[in-house]
Amino acid sequence: MKISGKIKETRDQVKEWKKQGLTVGLVPTMGYLHEGHKSLMEAAKRENDKVVVSIFVNPIQFGPNEDFASYPRDLDKDAALCESIGVDLIFHPDTEEMYDPDFSAYVDMEGLTKELCGKSRPTHFRGVQTVVSKLFHIIPADRAYFGQKDAQQLAVIKKMVRDLSIDMEIVGCPIIREEDGLAKSSRNTYLNPEERQAALVLSRSLAEGKKAIEAGERQVSEIKRRISDVIGKEKLAKIDYVEIVDFSKIEPVADLGAAGGGEILCAIAVFIGKTRLIDNFIMKM
Ligand code: PAF
Repeated sequence: MKISGKIKETRDQVKEWKKQGLTVGLVPTMGYLHEGHKSLMEAAKRENDKVVVSIFVNPIQFGPNEDFASYPRDLDKDAALCESIGVDLIFHPDTEEMYDPDFSAYVDMEGLTKELCGKSRPTHFRGVQTVVSKLFHIIPADRAYFGQKDAQQLAVIKKMVRDLSIDMEIVGCPIIREEDGLAKSSRNTYLNPEERQAALVLSRSLAEGKKAIEAGERQVSEIKRRISDVIGKEKLAKIDYVEIVDFSKIEPVADLGAAGGGEILCAIAVFIGKTRLIDNFIMKM
């Protein structure tokens, strides 16, 4: 397995593979890899001849008071995991390689980025789309793999690829959870033992929402109330949002009965102490 910090070297290698008729899968990450990333890498390995993992903590997707500086990093551990799965190339650029000092071109989108995380993190999706577009230009893979935990990100990237006619298949992969239900996330590492226990309220509250829908509840306000009630009982938890949207458009819906056979996304963001965690489920109505 090769590790490259250089755009040209990485692009040349991927082009060489393509010239040989090999398929390439890309797994974009910010590192500190966990079982969720592992499942993406394994899917990429199954479905492609070559696998590239990018590891880059992208400064422009963090807001001014967010955790860019403290975001966990451990390249040696990440490289060992990639090696064990049979990844062919890690692209690990530094910020200077990715962003010239006078960098000023961004990729942005109307609509899908305005709700959910876009409300509390107004510049986040512009940063994500910009870096993912750059990665797609540097690594012209056949397929790119993203986790459903970041469901809004997945919807945004699928639409970005469609709108900008980027020739790449976007593959969404299921959320991977700890045995007790907590969705795997690099940010779980911020939680102290008491907060780790409190964080179970995310999956517990979503289970309550799911149960209500399965029992026939269709009023979104009522489903959101039930989810919020569960979260409200956890003293270390503070709700950022509890929302139910049409998954393809990321637009709020009021009545699931009107969802017309489409997929709905029930998504929550909750602060546990200072750590903001997200979780969700998607349901076909
Ligand atoms: O999901 C992530 O880890 C990041 O948002 C991504 C897609 C790698 C872009 O920096």
